[in-house]
Amino acid sequence: MPEPSNGRPVTRYRRDDPAGQPPYLHPPYLATRLRAPERPLVLLHHTLTEVTGPLLGDGRVRKLDHDLTRQHAGEPLGERIVVGGRLVDGDGRPVPGALLEVWQTNAAGRYRHEVDRHLAPLDPNFSGAGRCLTDADGRYRFVTIRPGAYPWRNHHNAWRPAHIHFSVFGRAFAQRLVTQMYFQGDPLLGQDPIFNSIPDPAARQRLVARFDLDATEPEWALGYRFDVVLRGREATPVEGEEDEER
Ligand SMILES: [Fe+2]
Repeated sequence: MPEPSNGRPVTRYRRDDPAGQPPYLHPPYLATRLRAPERPLVLLHHTLTEVTGPLLGDGRVRKLDHDLTRQHAGEPLGERIVVGGRLVDGDGRPVPGALLEVWQTNAAGRYRHEVDRHLAPLDPNFSGAGRCLTDADGRYRFVTIRPGAYPWRNHHNAWRPAHIHFSVFGRAFAQRLVTQMYFQGDPLLGQDPIFNSIPDPAARQRLVARFDLDATEPEWALGYRFDVVLRGREATPVEGEEDEER
């Protein structure tokens, strides 16, 4: 216990467990060989730009932005799903008003992006991006279709497991975490170097959404539960986040 301050003990912030986060360099994930920093990081002081803008939150999110199946004239092809959960801090307290963004492939495993050359069809009724704000209890909910697996050229016969990319913003642009959500029982998880770059197998499982019968809507869509925990030993693994003091 540190020295008391003003007669009261000082509570220290809990450190993240390094085994629960992916390292910058994970050689089986080829792209990290090129982008991992070779020298110690230099912390830059925030300026007014980083801490004040752009403003995120109320007024920026439209009513149907959370529903990726209702962005076009028709419904997208594929298996409709509901993905929901809570955003909480390391002590389990809800984080309200946070901007969550998601992006994903269509049901055939194709992104609507010019560099995606996978020989799978685009869906005219699916863009693959959505956003919402967490409510007062830290809850969020997206309606979408289950994304498909897709090949990538990391190694011979490499396929990404089905996943949804998640971004969580704090109150300003400098506070952003990015991660990926996977699906329970996906046989491709065992060969995926991005998923397996997280050293602790238990931490990997925190990226796997669980089938949720309570969130499943009769005659309409299966539900999946994916909670995001900020900091602490139960933290959700995120990309490019290493303790700067190590
Ligand atoms: Fe992806």
